[in-house]
Order: sequence, then C-alpha cells, then structure tokens
Amino acid sequence: MSSDKPRGSRIAGTGAYAPEHVLTNADLEKIVDTSDAWITERTGIKQRHVAADGEAASDMALRAAQGALESAGIQATDLDMIIVGTISPDMPLPACAAFLQKKLGVTTSPSFDVAAACAGFLYSMSIGDQFIKSGMHDNVLVVGVEVLTRVLDWEDRTTCVLFGDGAGAAVLRPADSAPARVLSTKLYTDATWAESLCIPGGGSKEPLTGDGIAQRRDKVHMIGQDIFKMAVKNLSSASMEALESAGLSADDIDWVVPHQANLRIITQVSHRLHIPLDRFILDIDRYGNTSSASIPIALDESVRDGRIKPGQTVLMCALGAGISWASALVRM
Ligand code: ACO
Repeated sequence: MSSDKPRGSRIAGTGAYAPEHVLTNADLEKIVDTSDAWITERTGIKQRHVAADGEAASDMALRAAQGALESAGIQATDLDMIIVGTISPDMPLPACAAFLQKKLGVTTSPSFDVAAACAGFLYSMSIGDQFIKSGMHDNVLVVGVEVLTRVLDWEDRTTCVLFGDGAGAAVLRPADSAPARVLSTKLYTDATWAESLCIPGGGSKEPLTGDGIAQRRDKVHMIGQDIFKMAVKNLSSASMEALESAGLSADDIDWVVPHQANLRIITQVSHRLHIPLDRFILDIDRYGNTSSASIPIALDESVRDGRIKPGQTVLMCALGAGISWASALVRM
C-alpha cells in the first residue's frame, strides 16, 4: 500500500437482499386492528419484506455478501474476517457468522456476531475498520441481517407493523492514497432504557417455559415513545459529534444514510442537523425497520442507482435496543 496517510479502511463493495414476499399495510389490516393511514402517518412505512418458511438469517446474509464480494472484486477465499450484526441469528448457538462462513465455502476467517440491534451494522463496520487500521487484516466482510418477523408478536399492533426482514453487506479493504475511506466511527450505549426494547424471555435470566411462550415473552416488547425520544436526541448528537471530530459541517455532507426506523424520527433528526430531508436516503416505505440491515440495504441501493457517487461524503447513524447507537462518516 503506497500512501502517506495513516492506514485506514474504505468501503470497497456493497450488496443487499430482501426476501421475495411483501406484506403491505393492507395485508396487516387483516391481521391486527390497524390501518394503512395510521401506519403511513405515524411511521412512513407502506410495506415490508418477510422471509420465506425455512429461510434463515445466514441464507439472506449469503445473498447480500455475494453482492458485496462481487462489487469489491474479491473472492470469499480472500476474506480475513466475517462480522455479522444481528439479533435474529439462525440459532442461539453458534454465531450466524459461522453459518455464513460455511455457506461461503471458506474455513479460515474468524467469524463472529455483534448483537447491537439496529446499530449492529455500524458497530460491525467500526470493528472491521479497527482491524484494518491496525494492519492486522486486509479484507473484512461486514453484514447486517435480520429476520425480525420471527420474533414479533403478530397480535401486538404496536410492534408488528414496524419491522421487516432483509440483509445488507459491505466489504472493507485498506484505503490507498485515493480519498475513499472510513473517516470516523462512534459507538455509544446507555442501558438506562434497556427494558424499553427487549425480548424478555429465552435467555439465562428467564429461560422459556410453556407459560412464557403463551405470554409471548420470546417476542419483541417495546415502549415506542421512550425509544422515539432517545432516537431523535442520540442520533442527532452522535451525528454532530462525528462532524465536529472530523472538522466538517452539515454543508460538507452529500448524503445521510440513517437507520430506517420511523420517518418522523428521521425528519426530526434532519431539522436538528440542518441537513434537508432530500439529502437523506429513504427506503422505509418499502422495507420498514430491518434493524441492523437497514443502513447497508439503503447504502447498497443508493450506490448502485448512482445517487451516492465516488468521492462523496456520507454520514450514517443508527439507534436500537440497548439502548445502543452509533454514527459513521465515510468518504465513498
Ligand atoms: N395501528 C393503529 N393504532 C395504533 C397502532 C397501530 N399499529 N399502534 C398503536 N396504536 C394506537 C395506540 O394504541 C394509541 O392509542 P390510544 O391513544 O387510544 O391509546 C395511539 O395509536 C397512539 O400510540 P402511540 O404509542 O402514542 O403512537 P406514537 O405516535 O408514539 O407511534 C411508534 C408509535 C410508531 C411505535 C413510535 O413510538 C416509534 O416509532 N417509536 C420508535 C420505535 C423505534 O424506532 N424502534 C427502533 C429500534 S428497533 C430495534 O432496535 C430492533
């Protein structure tokens, strides 16, 4: 690598995948007491994708990973590390990343999951960036994948209308003397509100029983308004801190790729950052909240359709259960 800059990483390729089956708001009206008007007005979501029976997180991660490897121009055998951000892995043990490695047909790369919910992709990207910066690795595959429709209570209208399934991926490689590089990543957790968004049963604290299953303790429980307030505040502050530490202003940002949780959250973040909404990549209407997959899906689509161009500066921010949140600044 010939460069006078300190060693860093760049996004060398992206990929994404969404299951074929689409569940519209009209479909949901037949399942729970809701309406297209309520969901659209309160969230901006019109439809979401749902994994097919038997389709596991690692199957979807594989499709996204193949796209990212192809666009980066490398083979799975070139990978030094596989990091998967997910809270809905194939099974509790072993990691989804292990199954992904197997499906990619390689055996040598250390492969592990990162459970940071909706911030999982940015957490994973930050870890990959550190390994490349340190000189320990050259080619790191970072994936965000979720099959949240399997852990939703389909009788709870306050949660089941929000989420969808999908996968997105990026290949990180060493930045050379060209400008493309990950400029910064910032990670945060404040567990004060940990119980505001959780799956209470099924872990070591509350092993699942028949009663637990009947009470849906193995499904997502959320106090939406707590999360909403935290999201607006922390996505804005994490983004501002990323800009300040890089010596950039809002005007320097070509695109914001936010976690797609709620259009009203994104709109309020846009106001606080003084970055107009037309510079935000939005696909929440088509995918809903795909948790850790939401940023890499939006990133891949907007790179492939030419909205995000080489040399542009992109701000990413995400928040989810934990409460964990993150921001990243990337020159493409
Ligand atoms: N359809 C119709 N009515 C509904 C629905 C629904 N799907 N859901 C709730 N309502 C009703 C409520 O019962 C309530 O009725 P009431 O006034 O008679 O009591 C009314 O609508 C208003 O409910 P609120 O909870 O006040 O609605 P709010 O405007 O806060 O929107 C929402 C709820 C969309 C969940 C919002 O709070 C939100 O987006 N929160 C953030 C969620 C989030 O971002 N999660 C991200 C992290 S996910 C992760 O980490 C995996």
